[in-house]
Amino acid sequence: MTALTGHPEIDRQHERLDGIIARLEQVCANHQTGAPDCLSCPEASFPACNNRLADLIADLLGFMIEHFSYEEKLMRFLPDTELCRRHVSAHQQAHGEISRLLSELTANLDRDNPRQSALHLQHIAQAWMGGHARQFDSVLASSLEGAYAVELDYDQELIRLLANN
Ligand SMILES: [Fe+2]
Ligand SMILES: [Fe+2]
Repeated sequence: MTALTGHPEIDRQHERLDGIIARLEQVCANHQTGAPDCLSCPEASFPACNNRLADLIADLLGFMIEHFSYEEKLMRFLPDTELCRRHVSAHQQAHGEISRLLSELTANLDRDNPRQSALHLQHIAQAWMGGHARQFDSVLASSLEGAYAVELDYDQELIRLLANN
């Protein structure tokens, strides 16, 4: 499971992504056997497995794009500082890189081994989610909290000034 960032909506969306990634495990109808690939399955079962894999990839890429767009909208609320500008640029670049990598992997799936393809994709997506959430999303969440805190202090200061006049 991806580590919590402390931002409730980002964490909810990460949980949904984690759920889709976990389902890659079930692409194979015989996934309970724990086989690493499709060598022990009849070829006739491959089309159904490939279809399940294609559906999951569509869910994963579709929701990932929505999630990135949500986080990138949140970035607009960050203070206009050099540090935040650098964060936004690196964070958006990381979103672009994983989108490209997953699209490439999807275009080059081994249709004769859907289980192995699904597990490979799962491994890459899980590792990426964990690392990205720690390196970027947690920073975004805490910087937003900082930005809101400044706003709150500003409002309280304004109330205090108005009350004194
Ligand atoms: Fe992110
Ligand atoms: Fe994220």
